[in-house]
Amino acid sequence: MPRKVNQPPLKRINKRRLLQTPRGMKDILPEDYLYYDYLIEIAKKTLEFYNFRRCEPPVLEKAELYNKGIGSNTDIVEKEMYTLKTKEEGEFLALRPEYTAGIVRAYVENGMFNWPQPIKLYSFGPIFRHEKPQAGRYRQFYQLNIESIGDSSPALDVEVILASRAFLENLGFNQSDLEIRINSIGCNKCRSIYIRALVRYYKQHLKDICKDCRKRLKINPLRVLDCKNPKCIAIKDKAPSFLDYLCDNCKDHFKNVLDILDNVGVSYVLDKTLVRGLDYYSRTVFEIRKKDKDKETSLSLAGGGRYDYLVKLLGGLDRPAVGVAFGVERLVEEMKAMRRNLEFPKPKVFLIQLGDAAKKQAFILLEKLRKANISTEANLEKDNINSQIKNADRVNAPYALILGQQEVLDGMIILKDMTSGLQETIPFDRIIEELRKRLARKF
Ligand code: HAM
Repeated sequence: MPRKVNQPPLKRINKRRLLQTPRGMKDILPEDYLYYDYLIEIAKKTLEFYNFRRCEPPVLEKAELYNKGIGSNTDIVEKEMYTLKTKEEGEFLALRPEYTAGIVRAYVENGMFNWPQPIKLYSFGPIFRHEKPQAGRYRQFYQLNIESIGDSSPALDVEVILASRAFLENLGFNQSDLEIRINSIGCNKCRSIYIRALVRYYKQHLKDICKDCRKRLKINPLRVLDCKNPKCIAIKDKAPSFLDYLCDNCKDHFKNVLDILDNVGVSYVLDKTLVRGLDYYSRTVFEIRKKDKDKETSLSLAGGGRYDYLVKLLGGLDRPAVGVAFGVERLVEEMKAMRRNLEFPKPKVFLIQLGDAAKKQAFILLEKLRKANISTEANLEKDNINSQIKNADRVNAPYALILGQQEVLDGMIILKDMTSGLQETIPFDRIIEELRKRLARKF
């Protein structure tokens, strides 16, 4: 939180002796939470307008859900999941490393497949991944997550993209600054054919690729396309494109997605190396980034796609689905970079009191003012008038009320206009009415 000029000097503490947040995790201080609150407000307005409804699965789920749903060979499950064993039942649980698997579990467990489809849900909350902390990459971060479950129509892929775009636009992003990168990774049938071609191609370049890619080729070959190692970029660029291997149905599906995007005027970049890091994806995958940033080094603001097999994999019926998640910290950083300054609402009145009798009256008046919906701040713990006036200035309220011993005896109160400096003495029992009138004129 930035320090204000009239704040007292910092008192130093010995940080080594302090219990600090775990690495990669941070406190969200009040001035930062302003951005989170604003983001939630815009998300709620935008997504409910698109008929998505909020749904929150628990932060802890059975670890098996993610092993099965995300894939046990993915980085998220293999290296980054925070797991624990409960003391009494010895249950293996995991702090959620993403929303989708939990939402799909909730869809199946609550019989949502019996409701009219698609089921359109959104969520907002903390996510945990034990990644190497760096700028824009935390071990606890927030996601805004959107899912549309129960239908395979390309129209739903586009709706999720359009809702994402509207959300970013309502947050203050310029469409021309954003880039939607899109690809299709086909269905189970065409994917195995493509993977064979990809492995064949990479095997000709084994000497020229990094150690991680050699490992990926064995356990999760599609992920070689996600490698950021400069050594592998040229090999990756010449790799076969999935689009040449899509089966007729997948080709049709992807063509329809792109046609609708064209028709509604959404620009996108076809990215044949976009595969995403979670195993449940099929067909359309996409990411949203800031345009000016380098694709290999920049971080995505959002990522998503179709996951047509996940509901069945987690014990449900055959229900295709599509969704996306936004990294909230990355959005907040962009909002700050765009100089979107947010401020706390200022109180309308600052109440100053002097002397025991005035303090007693001030408690009663403060409560009455707040009940009358006039936001008022006071320092009833302070007796010194100068420090109260200093705080009244700092709070920047348009009016101050001053109640001293004499005013209490006379049944009056002083009303000071903080902009003009003019002050008037008003009968105590008329002050709420008087303030209402003046505030209505001012605001
Ligand atoms: P994801 O790409 O893993 O997708 O994460 C989505 C977004 O979360 C990223 O684009 C990024 O903005 C943010 N993010 C990821 N890791 C971090 C981190 N360590 N620190 C800060 N932000 C981060 C998923 O999670 C999928 N479940 C999305 C989805 C929903 N697909 C279908 N439905």
